[in-house]
Amino acid sequence: MKVTVVGAGAVGASCAEYIAIKDFASEVVLVDIKEGFAEGKAMDLMQTASLNGFDTKITGVTNDYSKTAGSEVAVITSGIPRKPGMTREELIGINAGIVKTVTENLLKFSPNTIIIVVSNPMDTMTYLVHKTSGLPKNRIIGMGGALDSARFKYRLAEALNCPASDVDGMVIGGHSDVGMVPLIEKAVRNSIPVSEFLSAEKMDEVVEETKIGGATLTKLLGTSAWYAPGAAVSSLVQAIACDQQKMFPCSALVEGEYGLSGLAIGVPCILGKNGIERIVEIELTEGEKQKLSESAEGVQATNDLLDSVL
Ligand code: 2OP
Repeated sequence: MKVTVVGAGAVGASCAEYIAIKDFASEVVLVDIKEGFAEGKAMDLMQTASLNGFDTKITGVTNDYSKTAGSEVAVITSGIPRKPGMTREELIGINAGIVKTVTENLLKFSPNTIIIVVSNPMDTMTYLVHKTSGLPKNRIIGMGGALDSARFKYRLAEALNCPASDVDGMVIGGHSDVGMVPLIEKAVRNSIPVSEFLSAEKMDEVVEETKIGGATLTKLLGTSAWYAPGAAVSSLVQAIACDQQKMFPCSALVEGEYGLSGLAIGVPCILGKNGIERIVEIELTEGEKQKLSESAEGVQATNDLLDSVL
């Protein structure tokens, strides 16, 4: 399996590292526009091969997409990250043009690839790839919900004082500080609803902390996070590479699912060798439906800005 990761910044390099350590891909090609940067990151990562015990070959190239030819999966992390106090949506002016160009370059050499979009505002960038690539909708995946769900589980484990492996929960909706929808009423600790352990106030607190999880880290770090985003996107790549038929909330083009159409937004998806094998329509409470609908309005509002920035 050959994977391309465009953008050798913190998220892209972390993604490449996790893919290599999981050792399910034969090759990862890191691409960046900064002269020598991807080459340096790739060499540094390859020097961990004997230490971390992986055989995956990581190479770096400066803006030479011919080296990405034949990639079964291509991850787009390129663009600028947000600074403290910024919303993801504010990045659209710069990142939309970058994502459009990167997509065109990738498809020149890998016309049948599966694209995973990480660049923000992610749901809108995912929609942009749908609009401009011509790829079938199952081959365009936005990564946000997997990351948000990991943060949700982190906050639940913290509140429950238990290992993260004991909890499960999913976040759907837009990958935005105000729009994401942590499904707290469906969250469990060892199959037991978390409401058996947490007060309503604490559950609300977990939801709110999850929603601002990215902004919280950006404030601490001075830039966007990278370890959890890199790990989240590497999990999606693995599900595709190994045909795991695994469920993740992903930003997918909806055409009637959940009563929504004409946008990409976080919904439960089964991922396998074909990319999005199918969108799963789960039963939502009236409250969850309302929140998802409001989230979609927010994503649509950002999508509406696309024409003005391209
Ligand atoms: C995050 O939430 C970068 O959007 C990503 O950290």
